[in-house]
Amino acid sequence: MKKVVPILVLLAALLLLGCTQQAEQKEEKAQIKLVEPGYLTVGSDIAYPPFEFTDEKTGEYAGFDIDLMKEIAKRMGLEAKFVNTAWDGIIPGLLAHKYDVICSAMTITEERAKQVDFSDPYFEAKQVIITRADETDIQDVEDLNGKVVAVQQGTTGDFAAQRLKDEKGIQLEIKRFEGTPEALMAVQKGDADAAIIDNFVAYIAAKENPGLYRIVESDEFAPEYYGIAVNKDNPALLEKINEVLKEIKEDGTYDKIYNKWFGE
Ligand code: ARG
Repeated sequence: MKKVVPILVLLAALLLLGCTQQAEQKEEKAQIKLVEPGYLTVGSDIAYPPFEFTDEKTGEYAGFDIDLMKEIAKRMGLEAKFVNTAWDGIIPGLLAHKYDVICSAMTITEERAKQVDFSDPYFEAKQVIITRADETDIQDVEDLNGKVVAVQQGTTGDFAAQRLKDEKGIQLEIKRFEGTPEALMAVQKGDADAAIIDNFVAYIAAKENPGLYRIVESDEFAPEYYGIAVNKDNPALLEKINEVLKEIKEDGTYDKIYNKWFGE
């Protein structure tokens, strides 16, 4: 009997140790943080068809990114809520926790990755030159010499134009606009000779305005990959989004959304 008591004490101590260890482990596995419970809040510059735009008929947000984020949210048991945000302030808005993620046809770049985490790539894109149909001088990047080039400020189109100036010595003038629609409008009105924008955005603009634009592709522009941006203090959310993205790619849902917007 004298020996049983110390053994019981020892057992109790071990049990206690076990419990606290388990609790510690639970704490280590970070929780998903959401700015508003029940919602996946998404920052997006919603003037970028076919990725994000306002459907004129319904007044609702629509596009590839919108469908993708609705699907991701649904699979997380959440509802997607979109916050229309100017491109200029879109990363600061994420850092200030105005939304949980950015999904806005945003190219994964080294510079941006210093500020935010990116999901696995979900779309491949590339810059193109878009001109009016009657502007036939421009056949490749060199022909932008002496021309005015419109870009959306702070986009990879802007960076590509700057690189042509700095690294290729092409004497072009960059006109920066807050939105891509304004950059395209400048081309339409003749305030700019060309714009440098993402290829699928150019294809849609050309398709919707038959005879208005001409698109020039160039090997000078490298492939780019869009990613969903997440705050660096929210690794559990990043992990979950990658998990769901993978699921959506594997079960054919990604292809369905892709075909809806880029089918033809
Ligand atoms: N892919 C380009 C970039 O990341 C342009 C994205 C612009 N997106 C938008 N919704 N306006 O710089």
